[in-house]
Amino acid sequence: MNVVILGSPGVGKGTYANFLSEKYNTPRISTGDLFREAIRDETELGKKIKDYVSRGDLVPDEITIELVKERLERDDCKNGFFLDGFPRTVVQAEALEKFKKIDKVLNFVASDRVVLSRLGGRRTCRECGAIYHIKEIPPKVEGICDFCGGKLYQRSDETPQAIKNRLKVYREKTKPVLDYFRKRGLLVDIDAKYPFEEIDKVIFQCEKHLQGWV
Ligand code: AP5
Ligand code: MG
Ligand code: ZN
Repeated sequence: MNVVILGSPGVGKGTYANFLSEKYNTPRISTGDLFREAIRDETELGKKIKDYVSRGDLVPDEITIELVKERLERDDCKNGFFLDGFPRTVVQAEALEKFKKIDKVLNFVASDRVVLSRLGGRRTCRECGAIYHIKEIPPKVEGICDFCGGKLYQRSDETPQAIKNRLKVYREKTKPVLDYFRKRGLLVDIDAKYPFEEIDKVIFQCEKHLQGWV
């Protein structure tokens, strides 16, 4: 199954996609993670895109499409993938459909209040990218990743200004992608308001729509 994960910044795309990825033994491909790794490793790509990511602007379509195309061609994606954070523009959506058939689009939805509180408390592992929340999903030892012992940090796009810009960019550029997939009958809304202890309620909704592909 080739599944696209959409939703506002901070709604929990990465958290849910990690869950689904483990459950279905299918890789999660996150453009945000690929970009952050490139920035951390100071690659050519990393240098080119660093400022876009820090400001909360979208990385130009040509760069993003090429990166995703190359990643989805790898062997581990041949039986499917959960694509987290791509496509984010209609141009990206049209390009994706040229190189992969998409089976389902899960659109995670929660109120602005929920989204802002999730974004405000996030911590991310610098080494493995694991996602925590200081109140809802704290690590066992403060500041240290449970899985790999790496240090937790706040992303460069977590300043109030960058968050505001990401939400604006989402409304302007990514909302039309929802309509694009809705018109094709591929998009389903997933109610993501539940607190982390009730994550099963969110995953259950996803499973209903993924049945038949496992
Ligand atoms: P990206 O990394 O994709 O960021 P985003 O879309 O802004 O979304 P986030 O990762 O901030 O949130 P999330 O929905 O994954 O939530 P999370 O699971 O972390 O993109 C970053 C940047 O890269 C972009 O701004 C752009 O510059 C560039 N980029 C990426 N893709 C691109 C593309 N296609 N085109 C162009 N540019 C692109 O959860 C949030 C928090 O909530 C966590 O702390 C989590 O622990 C917590 N949480 C608390 N309670 C819950 C709960 N009940 N369920 C889930 N999570 C919970
Ligand atoms: Mg994410
Ligand atoms: Zn880690």
